[in-house]
Amino acid sequence: MNWLIHKIHRVVFFRTPIGEVWSILYGLYLHLRFSFNDRSPGKDRAKLTYYLTKHCHILEKGLALPAPRAGFGQKQIIDLIEKTRSYESLHGKDTVTKVVRDTIREYISFHEKNPHALPREFLCLILGFVEEEESAGKGGLKTLEKKMWGSYSLETFKHFLTCRHSVRDFSNTPIGDATIQEIVHVALNTPSVCNRQGWMIHYYNNEAEIKTLLGYQNGNAGFTDCINRLLIVTGNIKAFTRYEHNQLFVDGGLLSMNIMLALHSAGLGSCPLNTCMPSYKEEILKKAAKIPMNEKLIMMIAVGSLKDKFSVTQSDRYELDHVLKAH
Ligand SMILES: Cc1cc2nc3c(=O)[nH]c(=O)nc-3n(C[C@H](O)[C@H](O)[C@H](O)COP(=O)(O)O)c2cc1C
Repeated sequence: MNWLIHKIHRVVFFRTPIGEVWSILYGLYLHLRFSFNDRSPGKDRAKLTYYLTKHCHILEKGLALPAPRAGFGQKQIIDLIEKTRSYESLHGKDTVTKVVRDTIREYISFHEKNPHALPREFLCLILGFVEEEESAGKGGLKTLEKKMWGSYSLETFKHFLTCRHSVRDFSNTPIGDATIQEIVHVALNTPSVCNRQGWMIHYYNNEAEIKTLLGYQNGNAGFTDCINRLLIVTGNIKAFTRYEHNQLFVDGGLLSMNIMLALHSAGLGSCPLNTCMPSYKEEILKKAAKIPMNEKLIMMIAVGSLKDKFSVTQSDRYELDHVLKAH
């Protein structure tokens, strides 16, 4: 009987489009269930955090424009303060509340030359709000100088980028947890929509567990045994709102690339591993990997140390004019 169910399952999911349609609908169901409502983000800590980050960043980027309009965004700031207060009453003060206050502090200092642009009552509200916490230097603007770019060049970057390859033949030198932590920490500088950073990185260093998890993935045959560490990059649906169901893959993809580049810069090898699978299989893998239901898989990254000499695929790239279309 089990055999028959398995067979039907395989036919439906792999030989007909039904499985694909089902997987897309299931993804949509997860998005509608876990994404936040931008009008009313509710009480869930993660959803509220992402909401505050999003709306705080809208204010922050308004200040980074060439000529911000005096008095801009008052309605949005009143909402931001209201939502921050409701966050604090539920979950207390933390980094996100510091970011909000520091950003509003920047808004106040922008208006120091033009205090009349802000109604008295509004000014009292925002001054009172920021005074509740010391500045932590976590929000607002920072000043850069063009000369900081002097030590980079396209030539150097080209060399760095073109010597990265997907590695499928690692040495057996183990990699320390601290090294992986440092690498991921650097990669967190990846840009994301409204700075929401709606990604998670799940890290596995146990050989048996890595093998089990790789057993759900269809592209590691032949080099499973030499994979030393495994990362699974996911997108947290709670970071996104309506019409953002694809954004999770964009942001998570950018982060994954930076993790691979950071690994490369640290002299380690990596191979991205797809997580293209029917939704039922994704759920089984998530369960085995201890990944909650509100996250979607972006990709796995196999990590290992480099051998002194090894082969990689040429993976030749298309000609520039095949992909670059000037309009
Ligand atoms: C999202 C993604 C998933 C991939 N999945 C696999 C995989 O399952 N197995 C594998 O051996 N390579 C996989 N690759 C590696 C590609 O084959 C490789 O990136 C491509 O051929 C370009 O080669 P390069 O990475 O050496 O530049 C994947 C790459 C990406 C970006």
